[in-house]
Amino acid sequence: MATGHLAGTVDHGSGPVVARVERIGHENIGTAKPILRGRGYMKGRKLLMIPGPIEFDPEVMSALGRPTTSHVAPDFIECFGETLERVREVFLAPSAQPFVLAGTGTLAMDAAAANLVEPGDGVLVVNSGYFSDRMGDLIERYGGRVTHLRAEVGDVPGAPELREALKASDYKIVAMTHVDTSTGVCSDIEGLCRVAKEAGCLTIVDGVCATAGEVCHSEAWGVDVYLTASQKAIGVPPGLALLTVSPEAMEVFANREHPVSNYYADFANWLPIMQAYLERRGGYFGTPAVNLIYALQVSLGQILDEGMQVRFERHRKLARAFRAGAAALGLQQVPACEEKASSTLTALYYPEGTDATLPGLIGEEGVIVAGGLHPEIRDAYFRVGHMGVCNAADILATLGAIERALTRAGYAFEPGAGLAAAQRALG
Ligand SMILES: Cc1ncc(COP(=O)(O)O)c(C=O)c1O
Repeated sequence: MATGHLAGTVDHGSGPVVARVERIGHENIGTAKPILRGRGYMKGRKLLMIPGPIEFDPEVMSALGRPTTSHVAPDFIECFGETLERVREVFLAPSAQPFVLAGTGTLAMDAAAANLVEPGDGVLVVNSGYFSDRMGDLIERYGGRVTHLRAEVGDVPGAPELREALKASDYKIVAMTHVDTSTGVCSDIEGLCRVAKEAGCLTIVDGVCATAGEVCHSEAWGVDVYLTASQKAIGVPPGLALLTVSPEAMEVFANREHPVSNYYADFANWLPIMQAYLERRGGYFGTPAVNLIYALQVSLGQILDEGMQVRFERHRKLARAFRAGAAALGLQQVPACEEKASSTLTALYYPEGTDATLPGLIGEEGVIVAGGLHPEIRDAYFRVGHMGVCNAADILATLGAIERALTRAGYAFEPGAGLAAAQRALG
């Protein structure tokens, strides 16, 4: 039986899909009624303020829905080639080799480790939380000897601690997380990379929760690999792993003693493909995620139209305004101080008398936020993402929902205090 059109609605990020979706056969057309038993899309709409995936721009979503073409069609070759050039611009890494692979941020981390780490290599992980642990695990898979340089929850080692730690052994690589999504802590990438480079190390920076939201001058700061995923400040639905790799790191890769033990992520497979598209020729190793790349081309274009400096400042201003509002409500943030707090995400402890039911209440007030992730404090805090297309109205809507949820949770505060403080900070 041939199938006809698709009827139904979807729920917007608030949990399981609630509508029934039914394919209507040709023989039923004219008699069958569309079945719309869910809440309508707009009626059930909630603002998605988690640290990824985020809200996406309608133009990006519309690019995603374009008819899929061949990965070697002339218009796609142009699109992918331009997209790779835009990756270099957004990452502020003009001489680096860009890679865009179908996969998530973890694949980008995997690719960095698989291609640069050889058995026995010493790697120092500047650890700021959950995703730094993951980076360490990954590097060990490839035979790296990992040492973690840790700090208290909510803190991250800085350049002086790294300088001291590098004296202890001969390290080939220093790996770090730009913004740790489990704590909202932002590392001093410029300072850490300066020290790592002085010691002759390669640097790998996990920018999954930072890239295109948090300041990073990859090339000027000595970042050898800056990696990210599509679904955060890059502004494209989940499914793409993005990396830029410096000429120095590509040379280290080219001079490896051992073959790369990961087949899919091996740069040797992808480098000729990325180069082919950059030179406006097609290529094939694994089928590119055609529609996600259409969407990425649009999103990176929007980011560059805004301008990197303006964009970094917008993120910083929105973050400060959100935290001014949270502080006025008496909420304490996880990062040890404002200087170590990120522009893309805020992690807040539940105030006295409230608990891990708070994110659910905030969700009922129309804004989706995330619960805790760091194993040591998981049930003590929640997280709010503010990146990408996020604007002042989203910040105010989120604080409004938090205020309403706090009232329902029985927490005593002056209603409107958070909103007023954020309004003042927004100027
Ligand atoms: C800092 C950081 N690194 C790595 C990852 C893993 O990315 P993905 O979930 O896309 O695999 C995440 C995901 O949230 C992250 O925030």
